[in-house]
Amino acid sequence: MSALMKLVVLVPCAFFLIALINFLYDYLWRPPRIQNMLNSQGIKGPPYRFIHGNNKEVTSMRKEALSKSMGSTDEIFPRVQPHIYSWINRYGKNYLCWNGNRAELVISEPELVKEVMRNSEKAFPKAKPSFYVSKLFGNGLVFIEGEKWVKHRKLSNNAFHGESLKLWKSADLLESEKLAKEIQDCVMKIVKKREDKVVNGEADSFGNDFLGLLVKAYQDLNEKKKLSWEDLVDECKTFYFAGQETVNSLLAWTVLLLAIHGDWQERQEESPPNGLVRGVEREVQLGKVVLPANIDLLVPNIALHHDPHFWGDDVHLFKPERFAEGIAKATKCNAAAYFPFGLGPRSCVGMTFATTETKIALSMILQHYAITLSPAYVHSPMPIITLQPQHGIQVILESLHNNDA
Ligand code: HEM
Repeated sequence: MSALMKLVVLVPCAFFLIALINFLYDYLWRPPRIQNMLNSQGIKGPPYRFIHGNNKEVTSMRKEALSKSMGSTDEIFPRVQPHIYSWINRYGKNYLCWNGNRAELVISEPELVKEVMRNSEKAFPKAKPSFYVSKLFGNGLVFIEGEKWVKHRKLSNNAFHGESLKLWKSADLLESEKLAKEIQDCVMKIVKKREDKVVNGEADSFGNDFLGLLVKAYQDLNEKKKLSWEDLVDECKTFYFAGQETVNSLLAWTVLLLAIHGDWQERQEESPPNGLVRGVEREVQLGKVVLPANIDLLVPNIALHHDPHFWGDDVHLFKPERFAEGIAKATKCNAAAYFPFGLGPRSCVGMTFATTETKIALSMILQHYAITLSPAYVHSPMPIITLQPQHGIQVILESLHNNDA
């Protein structure tokens, strides 16, 4: 066999061998080692299964839970996260499960949750988004880390503090379409319009709202402060999706609760359902447990928000009076008992914006209409990024004033 022929045979064989070794390492060798390491420290969980981990069990538990009708109860935890609900009951508040060959440590013990979310040791970065999620959200503030995060967070803090909210022009961003390409084109047009106004002398600045600050940073001559074009587009996508879906779903569920509990309409006043995900960058101690590098951490905030230990056995009942004396009193000062907007340095930058927007929208509706539940409504919350009403929310709006349309 000539040297060339040998090469033609050997090179693909070598690649195949390396791929096989990597595969065996990732799927056969590493998972049992991680499982043993955590089991020996008291962390239990459903056993690792080759290739699919626990995904098949999760899918069938979800399917079963969603197939059952749930009446109008607020007991959403066993419905939207049946696997987490059942595994916390079986294995304890912190347990190990498997997303394919990827180890996922689920943490719902408040002290550990605080440690992870505060991330003072800088060992728990945001987990990398999937391809699909990053296309939709853009690689913006929600996912970036380090110096870049500090720079972008400073910009958005400036735009979203109380006073600036009056200047927010959401219509600019609301034009965006869902597909990534269309979003990109749309953002480009909006930015160009702002730039043109300044170039043509129609405006003397790019504006003081968040988009104005982003365009200003994009134009900055100081390399350290300057935002790249990609960063600008990514932040627009991030804020569109982070701001839009969440507030829509908060408003929708609040209207439903007000329709069911009509007495609250005269008095007036949830969250990403899958939980908050972090990575483990290096071997690190969390509480008493030593964690290996390169596993994922899931903080299922729904589990903590529905923990009878904090909230009592009537946790699933709609009782907003729990918060009558503030959140600190309701949670007995335990920050990890209730954190719909996250916890620590990566908590929601749009919290004030979201609550202000929701209060304004609700008070505008409630000034004019009484809301009752339509008999057509079927209660069926579905976890799709946020918690969505599967068949929509049908309510009847009755005018409070004769001259209202
Ligand atoms: C009901 C409404 C909302 C809820 C429940 C909510 C919830 C959250 C939560 C739980 C986090 C932390 C995620 C984590 O730790 O991994 C977060 C982060 C974030 N939210 Fe919101 N959010 C809402 C509305 C908004 C709005 C209106 C905006 C923008 C206009 C926004 C922008 C962001 C951004 C940019 C981050 C990432 C912050 C960072 O990593 O520094 N959110 N949100």
